[in-house]
Amino acid sequence: MCGIFGYVGKKNPINVCMQGLLHLEYRGYDSTGIGGIHNGKIEICKSEGKLANLKKKLDLPMLELAIAHTRWATHGKVNHANAHPLLDASGSIALIHNGIIENYQELKENLIKEGIPFSSETDSEVVVNLIAKFYKGDLAQAIHKALGLLKGIFAFLVIHKDHPQEIIATAQDCPLSIGCNIDKSESMISSDPNTFQGDSYDIFFLKEKEIARVTSGCVEIFDQHLKSIRKRSERLEIEQQAPTKNGFEHFMLKEIFEQPSTIRRALLGRFNQGIFFEELQLSNVFFKSIENLWILGCGTSSHAGVLGTYLMEDLARFPSSVEIASEARYRNPILSKKTLVIAVSQSGETADLLAATREAQKYGCKTLGICNVKNSTLVRETSGVIFLRAGPEISVCSTKAFTAQLTVFILLSLYFANLRNTQIDVGAIYKELLTIPAHIEQILERQEEIQKIAKKYAKFDDFIFLGRRYMLPTAQESALKLKEISYANANSYAAGELKHGPIALLGPNFPVIAFCANRQTRAKIASNLMEVKARQSPIFAIAPVEFTEMEAIADDVFYVPSTIDPLAPFSSAVVGQLFAYYIAKERGSDIDQPRNLAKSVTVE
Ligand code: M6R
Repeated sequence: MCGIFGYVGKKNPINVCMQGLLHLEYRGYDSTGIGGIHNGKIEICKSEGKLANLKKKLDLPMLELAIAHTRWATHGKVNHANAHPLLDASGSIALIHNGIIENYQELKENLIKEGIPFSSETDSEVVVNLIAKFYKGDLAQAIHKALGLLKGIFAFLVIHKDHPQEIIATAQDCPLSIGCNIDKSESMISSDPNTFQGDSYDIFFLKEKEIARVTSGCVEIFDQHLKSIRKRSERLEIEQQAPTKNGFEHFMLKEIFEQPSTIRRALLGRFNQGIFFEELQLSNVFFKSIENLWILGCGTSSHAGVLGTYLMEDLARFPSSVEIASEARYRNPILSKKTLVIAVSQSGETADLLAATREAQKYGCKTLGICNVKNSTLVRETSGVIFLRAGPEISVCSTKAFTAQLTVFILLSLYFANLRNTQIDVGAIYKELLTIPAHIEQILERQEEIQKIAKKYAKFDDFIFLGRRYMLPTAQESALKLKEISYANANSYAAGELKHGPIALLGPNFPVIAFCANRQTRAKIASNLMEVKARQSPIFAIAPVEFTEMEAIADDVFYVPSTIDPLAPFSSAVVGQLFAYYIAKERGSDIDQPRNLAKSVTVE
């Protein structure tokens, strides 16, 4: 995973890189490091853990240029030696890397036989030593030779002590953007162009082993044969705001509370007699030609995708299926030009999702991105996009993106319902959808009730989350929230599956969190919970106000406003988010940046 950043220009490179790292920390926070050239020597400062640790120990002299890295560990423990930048054995070349070198073992063994010593366990150190081996005075040439031996996905920034004016950048299947400001006085390189500081940039996106020689305000690009090429830049306006918690203790809580307004924003201007997405560059004629949908996503976005298939089925009577992107990319799917592939992602940078989407494109399918981050790889690579409009989501644990994804899926299903002349009353469902933000506001006002229940359940280490129909993906999403930030073992099952195995786990120390807001299956889940009760598991039920019989079944009940089944996930998911948040708070975990995770998963 990891985030990489580089700067050459008139400003202090250390300050610019530290600012860049601050915005890249979402890509990993196992260690950070910064390096550059001073008086013909490479100077490096690195630290385990988050950026704040690096900031405390930063003792570098004034640098002529700088490269900086934030790590999510793949190869090698989280320690100082494995932090980037990494030096070659002679200390002349420094490298930072995002990605994975799949054949590093073999390359490392060969280098060791040639007498090269290694000081880290990383795959990246192999690359910097290979570059050193091929170096004959031109860094770009040496990198080109090294690239010929590498298998995997990567983006690198490399500097050499004898070239204090240039950073060499290259990438293969990993995002890497180079930006020159308009007056051509500085250049930045980053895993994410949204981290560039300033207003507008001419941006080049590197791909397929292209190599760039980046100097102050200038970029020279070579293709994979090292032939100089003219690459078109894109002029991007960057809206960068320093993330603030607005008085909330954590970004996660702030983002949970933003949901009434993010849902309203996702709806804004998108319904006027019919459904309309201003940014969508695919025509009605094209949508009419589509026969089925294949929805892809990872984690939270895949849960939204499952709900998407239910909505397409129920509201639009549209054949659709969903697959986790990491599996989809290795399947042998039956796709055609009449399949629309919908790729769902908050970040638009998830490696598995991008790979699965590219695979689908090989079948001639058009792809539709549902995405939050503008200027992301997914937005650039799909045939059309619908934006979530949720604003920056900083907490690793996704909340407002999920409810925005759900909102977009409902609108899209209503769009298809119109197009396919199904019998559902689009206007009535839209009207009901408009009431959802107020429902969530009511729940947020009662957060203390959820906090009280969470305190009671925080002592347990194992949970089963249950749901049926629209409440199944909701239960799965809520279990994901809990395990992610509280490190409790939270499994989720279709309530009807309980008796096929998981019921063996139940007992007084194994609570069940039951999502009961799906009207169609209300009696069924009540029976399932009776089976749970008979095994003495504590039960916390999230149920609609009219489901009063829950009082006699569950140990704790939180009542949510009543609505139609397709819209029921909203309120219940918010309760699940708050429940996870307050359990994590009680257990004292690092809520916004939980261990072992990163906001954006950019490796396979
Ligand atoms: O940015 P994406 O939506 O593509 O990310 C997908 C998952 O990595 C993400 O939803 C992850 O599961 C969240 N941390 C869950 O809270």
